[in-house]
Amino acid sequence: MRKLTNILVTGGAGFIGVNFIRFLFGQGTVAPEFKGRIVNLDAITYAGNIASLKEIDEKFGGTRYFFEKGDIGNRALVEAIFRKYDIDTAVHFAAESHVDRSILGPEAFIKTNVLGTFTLLDVARSAWKKSDGSFGSDVLFHHVSTDEVYGSLGETGYFTETTAYDPRSPYSASKAASDHLAMAYHHTYGLPVTLSNCSNNYGPYQFPEKLIPLMISNMLEGKPLPVYGDGKNVRDWLYVEDHNSAVWAIMEKGRAGETYNIGGENEWENIRLLNELIDVVAAKSNSDAPAAQAVAMRSTITYVKDRPGHDRRYAIDCSKIKAELGWKQAVSFRQGLERTVDWYLSNKEWVNGIRSGDCRRWIEENYGKR
Ligand code: NAD
Ligand code: TYD
Repeated sequence: MRKLTNILVTGGAGFIGVNFIRFLFGQGTVAPEFKGRIVNLDAITYAGNIASLKEIDEKFGGTRYFFEKGDIGNRALVEAIFRKYDIDTAVHFAAESHVDRSILGPEAFIKTNVLGTFTLLDVARSAWKKSDGSFGSDVLFHHVSTDEVYGSLGETGYFTETTAYDPRSPYSASKAASDHLAMAYHHTYGLPVTLSNCSNNYGPYQFPEKLIPLMISNMLEGKPLPVYGDGKNVRDWLYVEDHNSAVWAIMEKGRAGETYNIGGENEWENIRLLNELIDVVAAKSNSDAPAAQAVAMRSTITYVKDRPGHDRRYAIDCSKIKAELGWKQAVSFRQGLERTVDWYLSNKEWVNGIRSGDCRRWIEENYGKR
């Protein structure tokens, strides 16, 4: 088991990063053994919200938790952080992460996902390389990626770790490039790298431009529920804490140079998922007549123009991580949706705060009119 003492978390103010840091500090529903320090490097783009870690900062700030605001592409800053905190592990979440944004403006995706990842890898290589050119067994660069690099499936089949890459959006192409760079650093320089490709995550603190939190927010505000195309695209949904326990298992025990697929084994057509979510939100709203409330919400479902190049189906075969590292999902879809809806119902301030900025303008300018 690796020691994982001084961990650099990039993108720790985003959806998965916030949940990962909370999980490591015992604020999730399960807690791993972790006694080390976390350095959170985040540029706080429209998707980052450092207030999500207020309790962690109050409890552990300056002793075991440190926040550094900055760009992963800023080499001098990244080098200084490696030196200042004696970083032995990097877990790299920071990215531009939304497919729709990548279609409208791909450049930021190339800068952060490709060039930013390159900078991190290259700094890790210089910082960790011993005088004989080798690397110790207690350093690790874990790169977090997506199943979208594998392209789109038909009605059958699953993505495995050996499925050929076939990215089809600027987002997935930029993530594919970053995956190749990470593995190239392992094969060429011997840098200890692990890689995970995960299916769609959902849960608390997700920015309300992605399907589930967008739909919950629109339901609570009585707004239309925009379904792209025929609503029959399929995604494999995973509760964020299950993703993070998998990432942690890989960091502790995963073999350097290996890729691990992480999935929910939980495929849903978008329209079916939306109907399930409507039932959960209606049941939790204060209405005396949840069934009538659900009917009212269903009437706001609006089919809109499809996303260009919309991948039809994603589905992950995660048998490798289950067999090799003993990981498995702990949260059923219904439980996960209920926890997520509860969280959005009790954190309207968080949603209003993050939506009142760039996101609201962006969503309205680009999608509000359709
Ligand atoms: P997110 O968009 O919610 O958060 C990204 C975070 O990265 C934000 O806090 C943002 O401020 C930060 N960031 C962006 N550019 C930066 C830069 N140049 N320098 C420093 N920080 C920067 O994303 P997320 O959903 O939490 O995804 C995290 C990672 O997981 C990404 O690499 C994504 O590709 C991957 N992933 C996400 C999902 C999913 O369903 N959300 C699924 C599989 C893989
Ligand atoms: P999204 O959450 O953007 O994740 P990804 O594109 O990375 O899978 O979208 C999930 C699915 O939901 C995808 O098939 C697109 C669809 N979708 C809608 O139908 N309406 C929406 O408003 C959004 C944001 C997504």
